[in-house]
Amino acid sequence: MEFLDLPSLMAAQGTVRLPGSKSISNRVLLLAALAEGETEVRDLLESDDTARMLDALKVLGVGVEALGGNAYRVRGVGGAFPVKTGDFFLGNAGTAFRSLTGVLALAGGHYHLSGVPRMHERPIGDLVDALRQVGADIVYRENDGYPPLEIRPATIRPGGVVRVRGDVSSQFLTGLLMALPLTGVETTVEVVGELISKPYIEITLAVMARFGVQVARDGWQRFTVPAASVYRSPGIIHVEGDASSASYFLALGAIGGGPLRVEGVGRDSIQGDVRFAEALQQMGARIEMGANWIEARSPAAGRLRGIDLDCNHIPDAAMTLATVALFAEGPTTLTNIASWRVKETDRIAAMATELRKLGVRVEEGLDFIRVFPPVRTADLKPAVIDTYDDHRIAMCFSLAAFGTPLRINEPNCVAKTFPDYFERFMAVTTPVPVIAIDGPSASGKGTVAARVAAALGWHYLDSGALYRLTALAAQRAGVAWGDEAAVAAIAAGLDVVFGEDSIRLAGEEVGEAIRSEDISFGASQVAALPAVREVLLFRQRVFRRAPGLVGDGRDMASVIFPDARTKVFLTASVEVRAERRYKQLIEKGIAASIQPLLLDLRARDERDSQRSVAPLQQSADAELLDTTDLSIAAAVAQVLAWANKALQ
Ligand code: DC
Repeated sequence: MEFLDLPSLMAAQGTVRLPGSKSISNRVLLLAALAEGETEVRDLLESDDTARMLDALKVLGVGVEALGGNAYRVRGVGGAFPVKTGDFFLGNAGTAFRSLTGVLALAGGHYHLSGVPRMHERPIGDLVDALRQVGADIVYRENDGYPPLEIRPATIRPGGVVRVRGDVSSQFLTGLLMALPLTGVETTVEVVGELISKPYIEITLAVMARFGVQVARDGWQRFTVPAASVYRSPGIIHVEGDASSASYFLALGAIGGGPLRVEGVGRDSIQGDVRFAEALQQMGARIEMGANWIEARSPAAGRLRGIDLDCNHIPDAAMTLATVALFAEGPTTLTNIASWRVKETDRIAAMATELRKLGVRVEEGLDFIRVFPPVRTADLKPAVIDTYDDHRIAMCFSLAAFGTPLRINEPNCVAKTFPDYFERFMAVTTPVPVIAIDGPSASGKGTVAARVAAALGWHYLDSGALYRLTALAAQRAGVAWGDEAAVAAIAAGLDVVFGEDSIRLAGEEVGEAIRSEDISFGASQVAALPAVREVLLFRQRVFRRAPGLVGDGRDMASVIFPDARTKVFLTASVEVRAERRYKQLIEKGIAASIQPLLLDLRARDERDSQRSVAPLQQSADAELLDTTDLSIAAAVAQVLAWANKALQ
């Protein structure tokens, strides 16, 4: 899927059972593989990152059996992998890459580790330097300090003190700590520089403890792995829900009313990211927490408030705050986030770039970001969001849909940690409602739709006008209506402003001009071009804003808003339509006669319903409204009655 269009949202409510934690899943898999005995791992996260780890373990000769329902049986090798050579492609899975590097460096084999191009830009030198202190033989295959790596068999000289930097990525310390029990000798790790992301080290220590290795620690500076430490299977181990993934749903509850409950993490969690809930609370959200669940609601009164927060303790979940900030009063400043720059992408730069597309002011520095929300949420601009192959960028920006319709490019990047994120997202959110009114030319659907919109106080989309504008703009540019690529380019660049009673094309009023018979003909020509319809898709969807939208056209119900709450197919006999058109023209003082109008309408009906893309047809789930013998007022009343029923 190249893109996903998110409608603007009205509310969020419900319960989400979280997928397993990525951080815990990959640590548990690796330690279960190294341990003595068999481990049954339950609730493992099924995602790209864990798939990379599982593949690697299988290559190393570890018995892994899928038991179904996210459970796996891992037959531990008791310290030494049976396979001594291997080539590992680890994608962009930082946890898998860093922890496998540590363990394989001490495994006495000959291995190659590589990843996607971005993985080769993510530093690993501090971990390699630390491993070299115990004798590991590691070669950089391309650039010093970065993957890909070659690990050669080496004589390990364990014991004593190993120094590792802690201020770039905590994954270096994690990789080292998890590997050191393989030496069997007491080793002390000294952290150089301020240790960042401490909660991830807590996860590492907690998982090691579950596998029988107790690391003694002195503050966050010195960690000692005792002599004769051996990983032993705990038998069965449950993976907690992912606290970083929880952040998106808690944020939804805080922005969209709630209550929104996540299950799988709570007060008893070993993941630092549960403290994201405190940050939301500071912003004014109402939070409740049990041992294994957390629930978020919007503030009792008023909006969320912007905050200043040192995010060292919640580096991943803090990203979510950058988009929650869009819905707060006053700016939000997130500091101590330098590690964002060495993740799946440079997350500070990516966040700032994409937030600005929404029309938002953003300041960024080496280790901070500041977001200035718009005065009114409705001022957020529709935007096409790029995701940089970074799952968290995609998930964070889904929240912006509370202010504006959005297009998310390459949404499948969420598979890294949360493959069905968007399905779950849709299941707990309520989009802005749409009434879709389709029908043939001159059926009166435009008049009916505009009146229904006025009666409800909703927005109105005359989609035919976009095809008419495209035809007019093409004509003015001297482009033939059949030239698909050129017309599509014109449609993409249309500079239109829809006013109350006006339509401006490049600043000029064209409300009358696009209604001429000539342009009607041109519109039906350009509307048959697939590339033009494709280009106009998002342009139409951005009209869907609170409190609701009434759209009229040919494919409102089938293509543009397939999830419309109310779908109407409005028609009338071709004779009655020709008569209505005739009266309209005469009223405007334009000479006309019935017969040519009748022929023209028949030809247009034929073209609109026979074309290969989005042909005019009644959707199976649309109500039929035949207005041949109906007044406009009666037609409006009928549509409103259907709409009211659907909204209840
Ligand atoms: O509704 P209208 O007559 O203003 O539409 C002008 C042309 O655009 C008509 O030939 C059908 C086409 N159209 C379309 O193909 N899809 C839409 N959603 C709206 C209009």
